[in-house]
Amino acid sequence: MLGPSSVFFATLAAILGFAHGEDTIGFGPYFSLGPTQSWIREATTTLVLPKVPSPQEERLALWPGMGTSGGDLIQALAVSFESPSANCGASAGQWCTWASTLQGVQLGGKQVPASAGDRLTMHYVYNDSTGKYDQTVSINGNVVSTLSTSSGHAEGWGTAVECQVDACTGTVAAHQYVDTVITLNAADSTFARTLAINEASSSGLTTSDNKVFKVSTINIQSHTFNI
Ligand SMILES: *[C@@H]1O[C@H](CO)[C@@H](O)[C@H](O)[C@H]1NC(C)=O
Repeated sequence: MLGPSSVFFATLAAILGFAHGEDTIGFGPYFSLGPTQSWIREATTTLVLPKVPSPQEERLALWPGMGTSGGDLIQALAVSFESPSANCGASAGQWCTWASTLQGVQLGGKQVPASAGDRLTMHYVYNDSTGKYDQTVSINGNVVSTLSTSSGHAEGWGTAVECQVDACTGTVAAHQYVDTVITLNAADSTFARTLAINEASSSGLTTSDNKVFKVSTINIQSHTFNI
């Protein structure tokens, strides 16, 4: 039987495919919903970027993800790399952000620099004419990266703070996701009860029809990895 958020956590072991088999990987705070008895047709949220960890070490990722029936993880990313310029042409102290799906390999759209305070809107929508999820990442309202993947149907949605390798001893600053809206294909009166939270709080999950769910603010606490 699937417990709360098991769809989301089933995928965690393999998440962010940059890691090699022997690499250290860890997860911190989260706000997670699913699995739904329907499927997620559309999800949008805006991550307000915090400062990168100091020092910037390999690798620290913030992402809102959706585990899918196809075994994919749709996960637009904000990643702090040890060498920002080598990855997306970013300056020291910046993030790299891009649309991405982990599908065995890490598929991705264009990687672009982003700064603390930038508002990254990560939008996923199922496209009925293609059967794919269309992703866009926007910085302060301007689309910068897109990706479409055949991934089946999304079953859960959750935020993650993920460390790999040397970032697994660092501290990640508190940050916020605002104006989150998750739209199911059909009403699911069980969905709200699947909410699982770790080291986070929110302004509350609201719905008037058990189909469209909104959270105006998700507050993710600061987290220090010690792996
Ligand atoms: C669905 O995908 C097609 C092909 O990429 C695109 O032309 C179309 O605009 C998409 N539909 C919507 C509603 O975005």
